[in-house]
Amino acid sequence: MSTLNTLSHDVSLQKLNTFGIDARATLFLPIVDVAQLRAVRDDVSLSTTPRLIVGGGSNLVLSDHIDALVLHMCLRGKALTAEDEDFYYVTAAAGENWHAFVTWTLGQGWAGLENLSLIPGTVGAAPIQNIGAYGVEIQDVFHRLEAFDFETGDVVVMDKADCAFAYRDSIFKQQYRDRRVILNVTFALPKRWMPKLAYADVEKWLLQAGVQAPTATDVSEAIIAIRQAKLPDPQVIGNAGSFFKNPVVTAAARNDLQQRFPALVSYLQPTGDYKLAAGWLIEQAGWKGRQLGTVGVYEKQALVLVNRGNATGADVRALAERIRSDVKKQFAVELEVEPNFY
Ligand code: EPU
Repeated sequence: MSTLNTLSHDVSLQKLNTFGIDARATLFLPIVDVAQLRAVRDDVSLSTTPRLIVGGGSNLVLSDHIDALVLHMCLRGKALTAEDEDFYYVTAAAGENWHAFVTWTLGQGWAGLENLSLIPGTVGAAPIQNIGAYGVEIQDVFHRLEAFDFETGDVVVMDKADCAFAYRDSIFKQQYRDRRVILNVTFALPKRWMPKLAYADVEKWLLQAGVQAPTATDVSEAIIAIRQAKLPDPQVIGNAGSFFKNPVVTAAARNDLQQRFPALVSYLQPTGDYKLAAGWLIEQAGWKGRQLGTVGVYEKQALVLVNRGNATGADVRALAERIRSDVKKQFAVELEVEPNFY
């Protein structure tokens, strides 16, 4: 079938995951058209083969051998699709690079995505873990998306409620994992924009740069500078961003910890619970800058695990387990991994 003629066998995924793990896929198909997804569904053999959907591969930890059909989302295109009194509605295809898309919206004079500057990955991957940084999550600017459903064969439109967004989570990490494939995402970017400067780091950077009334581009520049100072560039050092979620604990548990560890870093949540800085817990457990085999803990941000050369998925899991176990021993707090494991 012509729509499947780019299907290939035994393909290296090393350049398709930012951790740089040298995994190989049994079957690999670059997706440039929704017709290919239909063809996969209609194919007797492919329809029953396990699937792995890959965008920018920036939130993935792969095993050495991926015995599955890897669908690499390469759909392209971005445009202003509608506007009303309050919003510009901007749509981008799943395969667009996230940061390039953010930069393009800012260049068009549409603000709203600036706090999410420089996050690695693609537009189609962004809703899956509800990407977030510096006080903004994708759910704050999300309008709707279109996805292909492998079970029904339909293209479905999903609004914010359908996506069940939560902290670094959505329905695409849960019941629709590998079943619904995001094709494009539409963002509602506000016409009456206000900068979101709740993060002390951002305010401090702008103050030091002498910026009085920041534009969205100023905020984007601040965030790029802050990220570059703290986080490793995946083009240079393999990594998958924050490796653990910041754990949420009850007020009682947090107060107890605070008594024992007065320097504990925690943030009150609207629910009355507290989010703890996992980076702080890992640093206190002695792991910041340390290494176990081929995988290390980044020296400037303990929440980021880095590939120190030829790391395998098993090496990454081993270090993650050691860290989880040490943090649990010291603080009785369970760390939950953030990336998807395959
Ligand atoms: N901290 C330490 N030691 C460390 C790292 C952090 O003590 O090695 C403490 C510091 O007190 C620091 C606080 O933790 O002030 C928070 O650190 P940071 O501002 O770097 O943010 P984070 O909580 O570690 C989260 C997100 C990041 C996002 C930043 C900024 C998660 C899992 N991570 O990190 O998202 O960029 O906030 O908003 O929520 C990602 O998800 O991949 C990611 C990079």
